Amino acid sequence: MILVLNGPNLRRLGTREPDVYGAETFEDLAELCRDTGRALGEHVEVRQTDDEAELIGWIHEAIDGRIPVVLNPAAFTHYSYAVRDAIAQRTAPLVEVHISNPAAREEFRHTSVVAGVASGTIAGFGLQSYVLALHAIAEMKPTS
Ligand code: DQA
Repeated sequence: MILVLNGPNLRRLGTREPDVYGAETFEDLAELCRDTGRALGEHVEVRQTDDEAELIGWIHEAIDGRIPVVLNPAAFTHYSYAVRDAIAQRTAPLVEVHISNPAAREEFRHTSVVAGVASGTIAGFGLQSYVLALHAIAEMKPTS
């Protein structure tokens, strides 16, 4: 089981700034993640919330269940010390993903308060960022 967690505004993929985030919808993303999971022999559950407290609750759930996570914290990436502190408690892999490349965008996106407590970060490959992250998690997972 791998949880794919998405922060604010990501349910609006497809209509949200398509020049930045592409034309594919959130449902397309969820399907891509589930299909990738199937190919890797992993059950993948995809969730999205605009609510910081709900996202933190899901991170706690993953921590307590030692469930690996692919996380796109969206704008929380840049300022949520609460999300960072939640992730800092993890014992299973967590890969930070971004559809766009925040380093090539506005200055405020250059900082990730999450990156320092993630296993690693994959950014800038469109929806393929999630596919790469799922492969990374599958590689990192203990085999036992
Ligand atoms: C994003 C990049 C963030 O800067 C932005 O706030 C998002 C999406 C991405 O996937 O490219 O909402 O995380």
